[in-house]
Amino acid sequence: MAPDGLFIGGAWRQAASAFEVLDPATGRVAARVADATARDALQALDAAADAQPSWAATAPRARAEILRRAYELVTERAEALARLATRELGRPLAESRAEVAYAADFLRWFSEEAVRVGGEHRTAPSGDYRIVTARVPVGPCYLITPWNFPLAMVTRKVAPALAAGCTVILKPAEATPLSALALAELLAEAGVPDGVVNVVPTTAPAEVTGALLGDGRLRKLSFTGSTEVGRLLLAQSAGGVLRASMELGGNAPFLVFDDADVAAAVEGAVTAKMRNSGQSCVAANRFLVHEAVAEEFTGALRERLAALEVGREVGPLIDGDAVERVDGLVGDAKRRGAEIRLGGAPHAGPGWFYPPTLLTGVPEDAAITRQEIFGPVAAVAAYPDEPSMVAAANAAPAGLVAFLFTRDLGRAMRVGAALEAGMVGVNRGLVSNAAAPFGGVKQSGLGREGGLEGIDEYLEVKYLAVP
Ligand code: SIN
Repeated sequence: MAPDGLFIGGAWRQAASAFEVLDPATGRVAARVADATARDALQALDAAADAQPSWAATAPRARAEILRRAYELVTERAEALARLATRELGRPLAESRAEVAYAADFLRWFSEEAVRVGGEHRTAPSGDYRIVTARVPVGPCYLITPWNFPLAMVTRKVAPALAAGCTVILKPAEATPLSALALAELLAEAGVPDGVVNVVPTTAPAEVTGALLGDGRLRKLSFTGSTEVGRLLLAQSAGGVLRASMELGGNAPFLVFDDADVAAAVEGAVTAKMRNSGQSCVAANRFLVHEAVAEEFTGALRERLAALEVGREVGPLIDGDAVERVDGLVGDAKRRGAEIRLGGAPHAGPGWFYPPTLLTGVPEDAAITRQEIFGPVAAVAAYPDEPSMVAAANAAPAGLVAFLFTRDLGRAMRVGAALEAGMVGVNRGLVSNAAAPFGGVKQSGLGREGGLEGIDEYLEVKYLAVP
């Protein structure tokens, strides 16, 4: 039985009411989960604030070993966790298994990083004292995670926070709270002390978030979600001058040059587009293809997408609104002159499926080139040369990830440097890795998650001037 309560101060409790979690593959109720109020959230902050001094004082090695144990438990229970993620996300089990492995990796990576937090010892230029720096935990953190990877987006925040010595209050997305609750149970079993991790699923995110951000004991906000909500949260965080990490929307360009290995580009495109049915902020959003290889690329991509079985290989979208939104983007592109080469209409159901869809000749003014699709729709446009492809890629206000395919190393380096993105995949359609810094530039966010940089988001530099 998966946990379905609030997790506060190391104890499970029910709330005054509960809400339904639906399975997007069937539209049926998958679970009922306790619904936190602002009062519950403040009790979670009480617990996190009380636990903060002792967790910060816990030896880094002890924190590391707890995280390592959590990694081992996630790995041992990978199948059950994958089934749980599939229950709340409706997607194929193979995709959930891949997510669980990805999620576990953040626990392992940050268990290794916990013991490597260093400082500096320098002589001041004047020579009469020393500059000693330490990196200390920020303090209690509020973590808001999205529904699209309900376990990995949680471990990507919780693991570095815990490694750094911070306590947390986690608000998982209300569409997919089950994986986060299961993780809380498992972290407690791994030895995380009471109050260090608190989980408050809620259908009242504005009230819960407002209460926490307005409380002076909170020191940090980390959010993954849309740029629109990220902007509001940044404004709200200004009141308490909170440290903020924002992993916001993308609009990834996928560039295929005339010297690319087209077969490899098609495989990369399928990965970059179809992972999680396109519901990822690093999904390829705009395929910018050199006109010399456009037809070859599009024909082969069409064949690959057409062979994918909806339901078995392509999971559903999160809800009916998502299906409507994606279908609206396809309709808009068609009205503006794009050609539908595959798919292009919602699946009959049951469930909220949209079939793999391929559009060509997508004009730059189509909404689909400016918005995150978050669905299995590939929008292709042809360009005459490298400068026009780079200019089109950089035209978006988002700058999370870009992908480029070329056989020319010089071009890969040149274009990779010119692309306005926090991450660039060269001849591959997936960049995500717990050991790599994930994050964007421009309106795609602030800060990095994972990699050597991920733990810094949860640390402050403290300087001592010592004679
Ligand atoms: C996201 O969609 O927010 C993250 C996906 C990833 O980590 O690969």
